[in-house]
Amino acid sequence: MPAGLAKRVDIDSGRLLNELHALARFTSVEQPKEGTAVTRVVFSEDDLRARKWLKDLAAAEGLVIREDAVGNTFFRWVGSEPELPAVATGSHIDAIPHAGMYDGTVGVLGGLEAIRALKQSGFVPRRSLDLVLLTSEEPTRFGIGCVGSRLISGTLDPGRADTLHGAQRGSEQETLAQVREAAGFHGPLSSVRLKQGQYHAWVELHIEQGPLLEREGIPLGIVTAIAAPASYRFTIEGVGGHAGALLMPDRRDALCAAAEIILSLEKHALATKAIDTVATVGTCDVYPGAVNSVPSMVTLQVDIRDIDPARRERVMLAVRQDIDELTRRREVKVTEALVNADEPATCSPHVVQVIDEVCREQGITPKHMVSRAYHDSLFMAQIAPIAMIFIPCRGGVSHRPDEYAAPADITNGARVLAATLACLAME
Ligand code: GLV
Ligand code: MN
Ligand code: MN
Repeated sequence: MPAGLAKRVDIDSGRLLNELHALARFTSVEQPKEGTAVTRVVFSEDDLRARKWLKDLAAAEGLVIREDAVGNTFFRWVGSEPELPAVATGSHIDAIPHAGMYDGTVGVLGGLEAIRALKQSGFVPRRSLDLVLLTSEEPTRFGIGCVGSRLISGTLDPGRADTLHGAQRGSEQETLAQVREAAGFHGPLSSVRLKQGQYHAWVELHIEQGPLLEREGIPLGIVTAIAAPASYRFTIEGVGGHAGALLMPDRRDALCAAAEIILSLEKHALATKAIDTVATVGTCDVYPGAVNSVPSMVTLQVDIRDIDPARRERVMLAVRQDIDELTRRREVKVTEALVNADEPATCSPHVVQVIDEVCREQGITPKHMVSRAYHDSLFMAQIAPIAMIFIPCRGGVSHRPDEYAAPADITNGARVLAATLACLAME
């Protein structure tokens, strides 16, 4: 830690909280009685207005702005040795339907506040510091998460990325290529990729999205590994018909078959007896979708994760066996499409140690932990040494309007982030 810096770094908690609330207003969703509901799908009007607002804030701090072809936005504080690989922090501002106001945003606005606090302290970084807003961390619009960081790391083929189709009902015809052009992001997606070594280190501040820090009364976590997510799309084709006239013995109901698949996933995820295996069917589109019509086609989006990718695959194998059996019995057709199957990420022991030392200097004993949620850091790990800073969130709740992180914890997280960036920028 640069001498005396810890005492001079002053996070303006009021400003950070105000900005989090201001960002939460870029949403068109109706507000519940309690909590703050945010829906901010990537490249929606709300997302584009929020980006403009953020760019104005960053420009006011004198940060140099660069946007790439997919809308990843880099806000740079140029260091005294700008030719050295920079240190980066960041996260996302897109939000799934009816989400809360802290997921991703704490990392973006906390990163901005960390940079401001360092600037105001008189600190001069040797390496440049980048705050990065990554595009489409959430899979809502295109059915796959972390589009921006996948392209940065080369995990997603640029040609395939441009042909990704809308995953929301009614938007199946639109492609990423069309949507990003309309949003003002031009050029080949191949240009988004960053080279290994381009960043000296990457650190992401995020709410835990789980209950452990709160439960154990620990104000801060350091992520040492990120679990491996996979997702699939299942299409089940049966035969539709009149809900009154089609006799039960004659039915080939696609939704009943889908129900069995959903329960099979739950059964086999539970059967591993590992707390780290989780499986979710988060969307179920029923065609034609009328109360008096037997469903003829169903699409399921499946999300399955584990810290052990081989165990995750064994669950899928068991589910496929069940599907074989039920397709014969129910005379339906099931098609499986792999959307993504990612490897877990291991955080850099060095970056973890830097955060740990910063915490201890600030009187915090951090918890070293695994992230079960995925983050852009999963992909940034492929091009740079990374780690993440977690702060507690109430009840471990996330992806819901009642998601909440206490101001003191947010401030703490931003302060630890600032000192961590300062240490890394002087290496
Ligand atoms: C991120 O939003 C996740 O689903 O883990
Ligand atoms: Mn999320
Ligand atoms: Mn997030």
